[in-house]
This record gives sequence, C-alpha cells and structure tokens, in this order.
Amino acid sequence: MFKLRDLSINFLGLTLENPFILSASPSTDELEMVVRALEAGWAGVILKTTSVEENPVLLKYPMMSSFGNYYRRVVGLGNIDLISKYHIDEIEKRVRILKEKFPEKMIAASIMGSKKEDWQNLAFRLRKANVDLIECSFSCPQGSMGEAPGKMLAQSISATEKVTGWIKEAAENTPVLIKITPQVTDIVEVAKAVKKGGADGITASNTIPSLLGIDIYTFEPYPSVFGVSSYSGLSGNAIKPITLRTIAEIKRNVDIVISGNGGAYSSRDAIEIMLVGASNVQFCTLPMVYGFRVIEELKSGFSHYLDEMNLKLPLEIVGKSLEKIKSNEELPFVEVKANIDKDKCIGCDLCFISCNDGGHMAIEIKENRIPEVNVEKCVGCALCMQVCPVDAISMKEKMDEKEVIFIRR
Ligand SMILES: Cc1cc2nc3c(=O)[nH]c(=O)nc-3n(C[C@H](O)[C@H](O)[C@H](O)COP(=O)(O)O)c2cc1C
Ligand code: SF4
Ligand code: SF4
Repeated sequence: MFKLRDLSINFLGLTLENPFILSASPSTDELEMVVRALEAGWAGVILKTTSVEENPVLLKYPMMSSFGNYYRRVVGLGNIDLISKYHIDEIEKRVRILKEKFPEKMIAASIMGSKKEDWQNLAFRLRKANVDLIECSFSCPQGSMGEAPGKMLAQSISATEKVTGWIKEAAENTPVLIKITPQVTDIVEVAKAVKKGGADGITASNTIPSLLGIDIYTFEPYPSVFGVSSYSGLSGNAIKPITLRTIAEIKRNVDIVISGNGGAYSSRDAIEIMLVGASNVQFCTLPMVYGFRVIEELKSGFSHYLDEMNLKLPLEIVGKSLEKIKSNEELPFVEVKANIDKDKCIGCDLCFISCNDGGHMAIEIKENRIPEVNVEKCVGCALCMQVCPVDAISMKEKMDEKEVIFIRR
C-alpha cells in the first residue's frame, strides 16, 4: 500500500510539515476557515493582508471574473479585491489564537502600510504577537499605499530597498518575505533590492495586473460593478508560466530564499515551481475553487514523485532545473522532423490546417484522411504537435546518431 512520505521541510528556520501553504487570500480572511484549512493538512497559512486601524478598506462587489476552457471552468481568475477589512488589532488576536491551537503550523501574516510608521507598527505588533513570519505586500495590483503612489511598491527599486529595511528593523529576528510583482522591467534588480534591504526571502509572485474582458455590446469591462470596472489581479493556472520564469530568473541571479506563488493547480505544478528554485509553494485560486481538500492530492502527488525519483528529502529538488535553462544562443542546433503515428491518428485534419496556414505547408492529406509529413518541407517547429487532439504527433531528432523523440507537454 502507498505510504505517504515525511514531507517536512525547513523554511527560514521554521519546520513545515509539508511545503504547501495557503497564501494571503479570502481563504485566510476568516478565522474559522483558517482553522479548517490547518486541520485539513495545510502546513501553514499567510493571513490576508492587514493594515493599521486608521486605514479604511472599502471593498467593491462583485469582485471576481474568470475565464476557462472545456476542461476547467476557472483557468484564470481576476479579482478587484483589496486587502482585508480586518485591521492589525484583530490579526494580532488571531495570530495568538492560532499559535496556541496549532503550535506545529506556520502562522504568518501579511501586511501593507503607507508610511514608515505604519510598516514598522505592523511588523512590531506581529512580532510581539509571536507570528512565525511576516509577508509584506509590495505588489497589490490595486496599487500600493504611500511610497510609490499609483504603482506597486515593488515596481520602484529604491522604495523596495528602503521599505524592506524599515520592516526588517521592526521585525528583528522574525523572518520577513517581500511579495513582489513580475510586472517590472528587471526582476533581478528588484530581488537584489529586497536582499539589500535585509529581507529573509521573496514571495514570487502575486496576481498579475490585467483586464479580464469586455462585454462587446455594453462595453463594460469585467468584473462589471454596475456598469464599470477596474483592472484586476489575474491568478490561477493561467499565470503559472510567468511564475516559473520569474522564480528562475531570480534564483539564477540572486542568492535568496523564494516562496513560490502564482498558478499552481496540482502537485505537478508545485514540483515545477520548486524545480526552478522555490523552497515552498503557496496556493490561493486552487483551494478557492476546489476547497481545502486539494491538500490531499498535493501531498500524495509529491510523495509519489519523491519515490519515483528515488529522492530522500523534499528540498532536494529545489532549483534542479536551473542549469537546463539557457539563452537562445546556447541552445543546440539540430534537425527535427514531425512524426505521425498513423495508428493513433483519427483523421481530424487539424495538423494539416495549422501547418498549412501557420507552419511550413509540410503536411499532406493522403488516402483515408491520414496526414503525411513531407520531410523536405518540415522545419520541425512543433505546431502540429500542439494541435493534435490525440497526441499522434511527436518530434524526432537525430543527435549524436541517437534518435530522440519529443512529445507534447
Ligand atoms: C480574491 C483574491 C484576493 C487576494 N488578496 C490578497 C491579499 O490580500 N494579499 C496578498 O498578498 N495577496 C492576495 N491575493 C493574491 C494571492 O495571495 C496569490 O498571490 C495569487 O492569487 C496567485 O496565486 P494563485 O495563482 O495560486 O491564486 C489575492 C488573490 C485573490 C484571488
Ligand atoms: S513541425 Fe511544423 S513544419 Fe513540420 S509538419 Fe509540423 S507544423 Fe508543419
Ligand atoms: S491532428 Fe492528429 S489526429 Fe488530427 S489528422 Fe493530424 S495527426 Fe491525425
């Protein structure tokens, strides 16, 4: 029978029972929900971003919109939510309650301030409440307060370094994560500023500023708040590729601990995020859509993977794929050709259409609607392999006299 591995990790000096935590989100905005999530097996939570008592939080509803596909209704989720309506006085209480009830779990809190006094007040009070970790939102898509008006704080390198320094001064030995945005010109410079400011790590990243869609008849953007809307933060599986790139880019250039966040929808996604350099993975949209029970798949999938790979410790995989990420010039130059498995082919013509109009006109339809690749014309772009609905197409290359086959991923 399958036996779940010990998945515990050390993260910034804290012992987590597994690498999976709930990010600052609606799922961590109510005490009762947090209790249920921790009981379900999540290793920790980051309570939804809080602010000082004087900061009014006026939430607008409805606040979410989404897009999906045939298989999944919510692939990308857009929200115009703001930080928590609960202020630091309430969060201090919750941290104390949760620490007492769940001494083995990571109880973290997220903060956002507008000036030095606020950031330091928030960090100081959380430290006094014995919080395990403080995450700082420098990347709310609705804009930061204070230091970088109209922008997200992490879009200003100088503000990022300065504010990080203030927070760390007040947090003292309590670990501090800075939650950044991938929407910058140079993510490495941001990561360097976080490190210079003295933070213990980075959360990479957050939702991505977006506009979810427009009703073409009424011209209303989504989510429509009685006819008008605002830019949303995009989350969910749609943003995973951006998360992978952001983390890889940071980890290749800056020696800093990363908490991965953005787009993870399965244990496989979480593993990928760790392979490019994250030491743990945060989840928001997945549990919001499917419930806290998804932790079961995350744990068993990850455990199976470690067995399959014959690995002892979860953190052995961190950054394992980084040396395989190269610049375009460094990639090998070899001849690749499409190969069609006629036994699998259902004769749908999709590969013919896309190669004809978007590839190199290298697919011909023969008798019985079975396509054939003209190897003289085929350049090996792999477009046909993406569109084939039954995975009948693979790419073959000859490298060092050995045949290598690529399948769609
Ligand atoms: C409705 C909603 C509210 C959120 N509120 C916060 C917040 O208060 N503070 C914060 O740092 N991130 C907030 N986030 C962002 C999430 O913590 C997370 O960074 C983002 O959703 C990407 O992860 P995911 O793709 O797993 O959802 C929110 C996300 C959603 C969908
Ligand atoms: S790999 Fe590109 S060029 Fe070759 S058959 Fe497929 S779509 Fe056409
Ligand atoms: S897309 Fe796939 S199934 Fe359809 S014709 Fe081409 S090889 Fe056959």
